[in-house]
Amino acid sequence: MATDLKALVRSIPDYPKPGIIFRDITSLIEDSAGFSESCERLAAAHRGLGITKVAGIEARGFIFGAGVAIALGVGFVPVRKAGKLPGETIGQNYALEYGVDTIEIHADAVDENDNVLLIDDLIATGGTAIAAVSLLRRTRARVEHTGFVIDLPDIGGAEKLRAHGVRVEALMT
Ligand code: PRP
Ligand code: ADE
Repeated sequence: MATDLKALVRSIPDYPKPGIIFRDITSLIEDSAGFSESCERLAAAHRGLGITKVAGIEARGFIFGAGVAIALGVGFVPVRKAGKLPGETIGQNYALEYGVDTIEIHADAVDENDNVLLIDDLIATGGTAIAAVSLLRRTRARVEHTGFVIDLPDIGGAEKLRAHGVRVEALMT
């Protein structure tokens, strides 16, 4: 359990727009140890907290969130981009580092009996994660814990997210 996870993340300049350095996790998940250790470390940071569901944000949050849910032995809730879920949904708009979008969950995906861990690959502005926390809380679920593979601290999203009353774990900056 000593894989250098940071070394497995590829940086691609000027994607998807000039000036953005894209932190690409495909190189991390293509590595068996890198992928499994990423999920296990995020799970280990959240054992013993009574987590009942893991929510993962489309699309890259699905990859790690599913692995963390299996590692914790709980179910997985997909937080999807608008228009993808077939049942009754609730939604929330948010601003990205490079655009605007809407996320949705099924209205009955979690409830007041749940203690939800939110997982995504990366936090930049925090806009996506703050929207997801707000959305999940509208069901009256407890949302106090979040986990990311990558935090971009210069952009400040993790600090903004903490101000919403959640703990933020990240495997690397
Ligand atoms: C990326 C990333 C996070 C979000 C972080 O997703 O996976 O979800 O941006 O940015 P923020 O902290 O500034 O909100 P993106 O919306 O690009 O979607 P994708 O996973 O489908 O590529
Ligand atoms: N999502 C938002 N900003 C990003 C970045 N710099 N790299 C990868 N994903 C991102």
